[in-house]
Amino acid sequence: MWREAIQQILIPEAELQRRIRSLGRAITADYAGKELVFVSVLRGAIMFSADLARAVDLPLTIDCITLSSYGDRHVSSGRVHVLKDLADSVADKHVLIVEDIVDTGITLQHLWQHLMAHRPADLHVCTLLDKRVRRQVELPIRYVGFEVPDAFVVGYGLDYRQRYRNLPFIASLRPEVFAEDSRQLSGCPAREHG
Ligand code: PRP
Repeated sequence: MWREAIQQILIPEAELQRRIRSLGRAITADYAGKELVFVSVLRGAIMFSADLARAVDLPLTIDCITLSSYGDRHVSSGRVHVLKDLADSVADKHVLIVEDIVDTGITLQHLWQHLMAHRPADLHVCTLLDKRVRRQVELPIRYVGFEVPDAFVVGYGLDYRQRYRNLPFIASLRPEVFAEDSRQLSGCPAREHG
């Protein structure tokens, strides 16, 4: 039962949606007169990119890339894999990376290099959540929805073992839920996620 796994709702649905509409207005103003390509980073950004795209009033295309560094565990493997690449070329396009969360920044660094190799006209980042406190790699992030504390967060696309992505809000997970996982992995470099 998901209710038992949730510790606290950190960002309720109405607040999330309000902030997404405001990000959409900022993006619409900043890219006025241009056509934009959203690069939605699956699976986590699925909800955010769908709602953000509808809040942007511009000609826009959406492409998806599937990356994974965390797999099914809450501690990163430290390796970022492109599981499924973009369908279309981003050469000479105005590209906006749409992420659910930037934590250590390692995923974003890999993605940034991957996309820059295709020579977009420009490249910026929009993340719903920024867990700044855990950053290891600094990259410019143009749009941030919310800064979140160093808690394991789930919901609105973010998962633990692929669950909780469908919650319409952002919540912290009870530590007991992933305690067993943490015990098994003790000794590994900790990159907590949600
Ligand atoms: C999550 C999230 C980001 C990344 C951020 O992806 O969607 O892409 O971790 O972490 P970092 O800044 O420490 O690199 P995950 O690998 O969990 O896959 P998912 O999107 O399928 O949940």
